[in-house]
Amino acid sequence: MAPSSELRALIEANAPLWSGEAEIFGVYWASASRSRRTDLAWIARQAYKEMFDGVVPRLAAGEVGLAGLANRHSRNELLTVLREAYEEYRHYCLFADLYEELAGPDDPPLTFEALRGWSWPENEALASIRVQHRSEQGPIGARACAITEGGYMTLFAEAMRQRGRSAADDRIADACKEVHDDEFTHMLEGIAGLDDEPLTAREWELLAELTTDQLRLRIPMRNAQFGFPLPADRVREIQDGNCEPLAFDYAQAGFGS
Ligand SMILES: [Fe+2]
Ligand SMILES: [Fe+2]
Repeated sequence: MAPSSELRALIEANAPLWSGEAEIFGVYWASASRSRRTDLAWIARQAYKEMFDGVVPRLAAGEVGLAGLANRHSRNELLTVLREAYEEYRHYCLFADLYEELAGPDDPPLTFEALRGWSWPENEALASIRVQHRSEQGPIGARACAITEGGYMTLFAEAMRQRGRSAADDRIADACKEVHDDEFTHMLEGIAGLDDEPLTAREWELLAELTTDQLRLRIPMRNAQFGFPLPADRVREIQDGNCEPLAFDYAQAGFGS
C-alpha cells in the first residue's frame, strides 16, 4: 500500500530534523577532540536513556496494563509494552557492557546508582515536553512520542558506519547494530496504522506540530550528550529546519510506492 499524502507530509516535516540529529554524530566522530573519555560519557548517557526513558516508563505502563486486563485487545497491548520493556532493558545492558569494556582502571564504574547521575538537562527538557504532549493531547500525543523515539536511529546508523576504524569503534558498532533494528520497529509502531485511522486534517496537523516540537528538542539533547560538537548557532539553524532532509525508507517501513 502506498502512503497517504498526509503521512508523506508528516514524514517530510520530520526529515530535516532527523538529518540535523545525524549531523551531530558525523561531526563528533570526525572531531579531533573525541577520546575514550568522551566516548564513555555519551555511552553512559545513552545507558541512562535506555533505562530511564525506555525501561522504567514501560514497567510502569505494564503495571497499569496488568490492572486493566480485560480482553484480547488489552492482552495484546500489554504484550507490546512488555516486549518493548525487555528490548529497552537489553539496550541498557548493551551500553552498560560497552562502558565496562571501554573503561580503564581510573574510570568510575557505571553502577545503577551512578547511572542516575548521568541525567542531563537537555534530556530532561525533551522528557518533559513528551509528558506534556501525552497528558494534554491524549492518543495523538502518545503517537507523536512513538514516532520521534530514537530520532530515526541516526545515532545507531552513524555508529555502525565507523566500523573498521579501531577495536573500540567495532565494539560500538556491534552494540549499535543490535539496537538499530529494535528502534526502527518502535518508530514504525508509531507510524503503523496511521493511515488506517480516521484522523482529521487538524489531527494530522497537530501530529506534525508535536513531532517537530519534540525533534527540535532532540537536537540540543544529542548535542549535549556528545559534549557539544555543534556550536549553538548551528543547533538553532537545525531547529529552524535548515538541513537537507533525510530520505525516509518507505520500502523498509513496509510501504509500496
Ligand atoms: Fe532503546
Ligand atoms: Fe526504543
